[in-house]
Amino acid sequence: MRALGLMSGTSVDGIDVTVIETDGERIFGFGPALTLPYSDRVRSLIRAAFGAETPNEMTRTAEQAVTDAHIEAARHAAAMHDIAPASIDVVGFHGQTITHRPEKRFTWQIGDGTALAKALGVKVVNDLRSADVASGGQGAPLVPVYHAALVRDLRRPLAVLNVGGVANVTWIGADGSLLAFDTGPGNAPIDDWCARRAGSRFDVDGALAAAGKVDRARLERFSEHRYFARKPPKSLDRGDFNESWADGLSVADGAATLTRGTARAVSLATRHFPAPVTQWIICGGGARNPTLLRAVAEETRSDVITADALGWNSDAIEAQAFGFLAVRSLRGLPLTFPTTTGVPRPQTGGRLHLP
Ligand SMILES: Nc1ncnc2c1ncn2[C@@H]1O[C@H](COP(=O)(O)OP(=O)(O)O)[C@@H](O)[C@H]1O
Ligand SMILES: [Mg+2]
Repeated sequence: MRALGLMSGTSVDGIDVTVIETDGERIFGFGPALTLPYSDRVRSLIRAAFGAETPNEMTRTAEQAVTDAHIEAARHAAAMHDIAPASIDVVGFHGQTITHRPEKRFTWQIGDGTALAKALGVKVVNDLRSADVASGGQGAPLVPVYHAALVRDLRRPLAVLNVGGVANVTWIGADGSLLAFDTGPGNAPIDDWCARRAGSRFDVDGALAAAGKVDRARLERFSEHRYFARKPPKSLDRGDFNESWADGLSVADGAATLTRGTARAVSLATRHFPAPVTQWIICGGGARNPTLLRAVAEETRSDVITADALGWNSDAIEAQAFGFLAVRSLRGLPLTFPTTTGVPRPQTGGRLHLP
């Protein structure tokens, strides 16, 4: 099948759009990829809905904006890259997470699947996390089964690290076994620090962090956070870690310390691995931050390569994953597993919307 994947993560930077050819088990090819940034208006509507647990005026407005932005992103990608809607078998639509509270068996990705299916004239699969959470899983991370398909031909064990707003790791054993969980904060605290203190949306190329000095005492205290010792499965809401532990530092030192914190959290994740890895593959927006890459290499004392260096498209991996998961959903294949989300049994999921 040819699937269109639409992903918008907790960074609320924009919508990643891509095409993948897959049967939900193997990958046969990739199509074009692009990211359409959210406008400031849509971004603030989404942020205003964060944490909501029941529909209200704010969530309805945000959902409408998210749906419209996805329709626009899909149409834009189709026009830019000559993708005929009739050539697409299914759209995997992640939606925008506004609240993720698996301990309450609750996770909410806003975005109207029916409206998207109608607008594009293509089948849409969305709501890919709910079934997992309803069965007692963490509802995240969802990408591990896709990571496993990607690394089929590489030497294992290895770890794939996705650094979005939150960071999540997939450990893949030599026999294809999986372990996955959120490692801790990703870019979100760095972004929020930059927004608050530097007037920029993120630390472009990690330049601010590179100019600062890591506050070692704060880093050691941060390492004691009980989340890191907790055994997986485990997942995080964007707000579970914030930038306040850098308060009082200079702009550059704060960025350096928060960046090192994200890297430290990654290295603290290795204690949960069934076997050590010598190689880390990094994807997501964090892979574009050289200061963070260096910090991860130093903290984990491992080889760190970016997904792009392997010939993959770092920015498109999550969108590819949601195209892949939509195909798995259509085939009734499991999306999540006891070792990826803690769900008791391998679990399929997703909700199908016909055009
Ligand atoms: N050139 C860059 N330098 C530093 N950080 C970057 C760069 N490009 C992107 N990022 C980071 O990546 C984030 C977006 O990553 P992404 O993988 O899309 O996250 P999410 O899945 O949460 O949307 C941005 O908010 C920013 O922190
Ligand atoms: Mg993003």
